[in-house]
Amino acid sequence: MTAARDWEPAYARRAEGMKASEIRELLKLLEQPGIISFAGGIPDPALFPAQAASTAYAEALASEGDAATALQYSVSEGYGPLREWIAHDMASRGVQASPENIIITAGSQQALDFLGKLLLTPGDTALVTAPTYLGALQAFSAYEPRYDTIRPDQTNRTPDSYSQAAQKAATGARVKLAYAVPDFANPTGETLSRSARTTLLDLAGNLDIPVIEDTAYHALRFEGPHIAALQAIDVALCGAVDKSRVVYLGTFSKTVAPGLRIGWICASRALVRRLVLIKQASDLNVSVINQRVMHQLVSDGRHAELIARARAHYRPKRDAMLAALKAHMPSGVNWTKPEGGFFIWLKLPTGVSGASLLKRAIDEAKVAFVPGAAFFHDGSGENSIRLSYSLPNTSEITTGVRRLTSLLR
Ligand SMILES: Cc1ncc(COP(=O)(O)O)c(C=O)c1O
Repeated sequence: MTAARDWEPAYARRAEGMKASEIRELLKLLEQPGIISFAGGIPDPALFPAQAASTAYAEALASEGDAATALQYSVSEGYGPLREWIAHDMASRGVQASPENIIITAGSQQALDFLGKLLLTPGDTALVTAPTYLGALQAFSAYEPRYDTIRPDQTNRTPDSYSQAAQKAATGARVKLAYAVPDFANPTGETLSRSARTTLLDLAGNLDIPVIEDTAYHALRFEGPHIAALQAIDVALCGAVDKSRVVYLGTFSKTVAPGLRIGWICASRALVRRLVLIKQASDLNVSVINQRVMHQLVSDGRHAELIARARAHYRPKRDAMLAALKAHMPSGVNWTKPEGGFFIWLKLPTGVSGASLLKRAIDEAKVAFVPGAAFFHDGSGENSIRLSYSLPNTSEITTGVRRLTSLLR
């Protein structure tokens, strides 16, 4: 038998940044029986509106006419009534938008890919927090940027220092975007304060770059006062979403179901028109039937009901994890106290490696989590880990944290 073909020489340069991580390999071990997993970070299927979705699919196919459109190709900007619903809903998020400001995407993950494609020339700089959402790093990295770190909570760098670093890295290269998850971030669970949001907008204003605001967990606030979206703050200052530098990414994945793959971008019409061209070239349109079903699932107050249910469902899980951490964690370990979302971020004592701990945690304690280094663009974060409480039940959370803490002791 001849050897399998070596594909490596055929790949474009951009594929170099697309290697499977060591962590993904470790996470395969999760399929072992008896593991309590804090790794996933995915919605609890107990919340999926399966019955309502089944009815909505049946309705979308009920007549020949319905089926003819539900199963057909459609316009790349998305299903009109859903865009209208979202534009209207954006007002409750502090942004007056019209349907022309909205494009429907296959989840916000596709939005991140499209924005990387539209905004990043190889060598350009993308500003991200460290840590940040791994999926954003994966999406942007295909467009070969360099990264630099923003710390909206500590204004310790001038705008010039970012531009100079970008120019030094590659001739003609510029800082091209800033990306942030302001509410209950993946992976830290932290929320940017109002003043940190203003700091970030000021920095972006000084650099004259777009800000990508990823609001994946925004609706899942358990407590504490609402903080205005970056786009809402910016629109209040500049007067209209068409003038705003903020590109708002929304998704129904955490409040309805990720399987329908429906998210959206709310931004200036000019930007949306360019994104429509990218959508056309990429996959023409999001599944029409899924958009219709999503519209059914969220309209007439139903999204608010799903959100209320999700908050009530995840809050006790967060409480159980925080209580178990407080009761059992040895000193020297610090963790975040999220007011919503799915994640708690732990800083282990210096020198303790999250990746080595994961190997032992799976073998000896039958507990899994994600080592923090995966979320850093610069290879740091070795001594941190991300715990997600979204999937296990409260008693599994308590048991899992207890097992983890006995390892750390
Ligand atoms: C911060 C953040 N952004 C975006 C996504 C992608 O979500 P979706 O593509 O399902 O909308 C996720 C998923 O976990 C996430 O955590």
